Amino acid sequence: MLIQLDKTMSLSLDDIKQPIDSHLRQFEKHFWQSMRNQRIPLLNTVLRYVFHTKGKQIRPMFVFLAAKLQSDVTDATYRGASLVELLHTATLIHDDVVDDSYERRGFFSVSALWKNKIAVLLGDYLLSKGLLLAVDNGDFKLLQIVSRAVKEMSEGELLQIERTRRLNLDEEIYYEIIRQKTASLIASSCAVGYASANPGDTQGEQLAWNMGEKIGIAFQIKDDLFDFGNENTGKPKGNDIQEKKVTLPLIYAINNATSSDKKRIIYLIKNHRKDRKKIEEVIDFVWKSGGIEYAKQAMYRYRDEAIALLRQFPDSVARQSLEKLIIFTTERNK
Ligand code: IPE
Ligand code: IPE
Ligand code: MG
Ligand code: MG
Repeated sequence: MLIQLDKTMSLSLDDIKQPIDSHLRQFEKHFWQSMRNQRIPLLNTVLRYVFHTKGKQIRPMFVFLAAKLQSDVTDATYRGASLVELLHTATLIHDDVVDDSYERRGFFSVSALWKNKIAVLLGDYLLSKGLLLAVDNGDFKLLQIVSRAVKEMSEGELLQIERTRRLNLDEEIYYEIIRQKTASLIASSCAVGYASANPGDTQGEQLAWNMGEKIGIAFQIKDDLFDFGNENTGKPKGNDIQEKKVTLPLIYAINNATSSDKKRIIYLIKNHRKDRKKIEEVIDFVWKSGGIEYAKQAMYRYRDEAIALLRQFPDSVARQSLEKLIIFTTERNK
C-alpha cells in the first residue's frame, strides 16, 4: 500500500508533543527521581551531567502517544516512560565505550570525561534503577516487554562486533543487527505505552510492537545516514567507518562497485580507517555510488509500513501526532 502523506504538515517536535505536553513535563521530574542517588557524591555528579545533557526523549513520546491510542495515560505509563529512557541512556553510555566515541548530544561522552570504568558502572546502575522501578511497583508486564528488548539490544551489539570483524556486506545481517540493537527498544516503547493503558489487550500490544519495530528500523537507517552527512548531530561523523561498521549506504555502494573500486574501498576500510582523508574518500564514494539514495528509499519503505500499521488503530489526536512523530524520525537532523 502506498501511504499518502501531507507534504505541508508541520513537523516541529513542539507541535508533535502538544497532546502529551503536560505528561512530558511531569515525566521530566519522574525521570530525575528515578535515577538520582544522594549517597555517592561521584555518582551524583555523573548523573547530573547525564541528566543535563539529555537527548530528544523520543522514546517517552512513543510511550505516551501509544498509551493514548485507545485509552489514556496511567501511573504505569509514567513508569514505563522512565524505564525505557533509563535503559536507553544506559545503553548509550555503554555504546560510547564500545564504539570508542568521545561525543554524545554535543557534549563529551561519559567515557570521554570519566573513562570506561565509570561509564560501564554507571550504565549498569541506570539499567538496574530502571528494572527496580518496575519491580518495586509490580509492573511485571512492562518489565517483560522491556527485558526482551534489553536482551535483543545486547545481542544486536554483539552480532555487530562479530560481523565487523569480517566486514559485513550482507543486507540481511545489517537488518538483523539494527532490528535487535535499535528497533527492539522503540518497539518496546510503543508496546509498553499501549500495555500500560490497555492491560490484557495482547492483540493491540502486538500491533504496537510491530509498528514500533518498523519505526526503529527507519530510525537506525536515518542514524546511519548521519555518519555520511554534514548535519551537526552532536555525534562524531565518520565514526562508523572508523569502527569498521559497514552500514546500508556503504553495503549498497560496495556490492554495486566495479571489482577494482570494491578492492580499493575494502582496503581503505581495513587499513586506513583512522585517516580522516581516507574516510572522506570512502564517504565520497558512497555518495557517488547512489548508496545514500538507496538507503533513504529503504528508510521510507519502513516508515510507510509503520504508518500503515498505525492506521489500524482508530483515528484520534494521539494517532495523528504519532504519525507526525514517525515522519519526524526520517526527517530529523539530529
Ligand atoms: C541514538 O538514539 C541511538 C540510536 C539508537 C541510533 P537517539 O537519537 O534517540 O538519542 P538521543 O537520546 O536523542 O540522544
Ligand atoms: C545504536 O547504534 C546503538 C544502540 C543501540 C545503543 P549507534 O552506535 O549507531 O548509535 P550512536 O550513533 O552511537 O548513537
Ligand atoms: Mg555508537
Ligand atoms: Mg550511529
